[in-house]
Amino acid sequence: MSTSATPEPVIRQIVEAMRALAGPHPGFRPVHAKGLVCSGAFRASADASRVSRAPHFTGQSVATTVRFANSNGNPDVHDGVPNVRSIAVKFQLSDGKSADILANSVEGFIARTPEELLEFLRAQLPASASGRPDPDAVPRFLAAHPAGRAFVERLMKKPVPASYAQATYHAEHAFRFTAADGTSRFGRYRFVPQAGEAFLSPDEAGKRSPSFLREELEGRLRTGPVAFQLLLQVAEAGDATDDVTALWPEARRVIELGRLEVTGISPTSADDEQRLIFDPSNRTDGIDLSADPILLARSAAYAISYDRRRKGE
Ligand code: HEM
Repeated sequence: MSTSATPEPVIRQIVEAMRALAGPHPGFRPVHAKGLVCSGAFRASADASRVSRAPHFTGQSVATTVRFANSNGNPDVHDGVPNVRSIAVKFQLSDGKSADILANSVEGFIARTPEELLEFLRAQLPASASGRPDPDAVPRFLAAHPAGRAFVERLMKKPVPASYAQATYHAEHAFRFTAADGTSRFGRYRFVPQAGEAFLSPDEAGKRSPSFLREELEGRLRTGPVAFQLLLQVAEAGDATDDVTALWPEARRVIELGRLEVTGISPTSADDEQRLIFDPSNRTDGIDLSADPILLARSAAYAISYDRRRKGE
């Protein structure tokens, strides 16, 4: 059930704008279309249960399904195209339940509200009179939205990761975490690669093979698991918990929640992608949503998108 204050038509229009920008790719996601599904395991650190009573933070190894992707809406996009990359992790809990974390390789987001996001997407769509996008529309949006401009500047500093295993991924929104003793705090997840970060210039990346990120990961996994630390950046009083574009100071306390090991690419990755849905609202006791309007709009958007792609549209 949606807890979003955003009118449903706005959410629907966002998904339609994403689909229009992606072009016709029946059965694929309209964003993050080119991905690959992996299996893995997560083990929480000793500190995790002091942050949240969620079952996957108690310390036993938990099976995970992981999807890496390029945020472009074209499933055949060249991996060298500068863009946001992502990791989506599904923690398999008992009784068939699960909890998801979705995270992007650039910190923050382009828009503070769903309405702003719709404005940004529409700025890239063809203007009805000319049939072509207005070349000034995106610059105009960025000039009027300094936080969106700062996001694009961060993206251009890290345009293409050298490997899916060498980017830091941010879940962006604040969530509220409650421990067994009832104490709670807001925090933001990030996955930090054990292999360290490495990025390519668009020129270098453009010379690699069109699916070099997949091929690189296949090669890397033949030599052992790919590991990430799951960290939580903890808010202090006054930090915005309802604004995905407002970064918190880097000096904020960071708690290690555990270690994710990606162990192999699923032999049925293409089918898995179609079947799977990741949703940041899919969580468990001990983790709550913040009042961030972007976060609260996402579940409805993902459900609409899933419905469309499952129908082969
Ligand atoms: C109102 C804001 C947003 C909307 C409407 C939106 C919409 C979408 C849609 C429609 C999909 C495809 C879903 C599917 O068919 O399964 C998607 C995928 C995704 N989005 Fe968003 N998104 C929003 C904000 C964000 C933010 C802030 C992040 C940052 C973490 C994010 C990360 C992702 C990721 C990682 C995926 C791919 C998930 C997968 O691998 O299946 N999105 N988004």
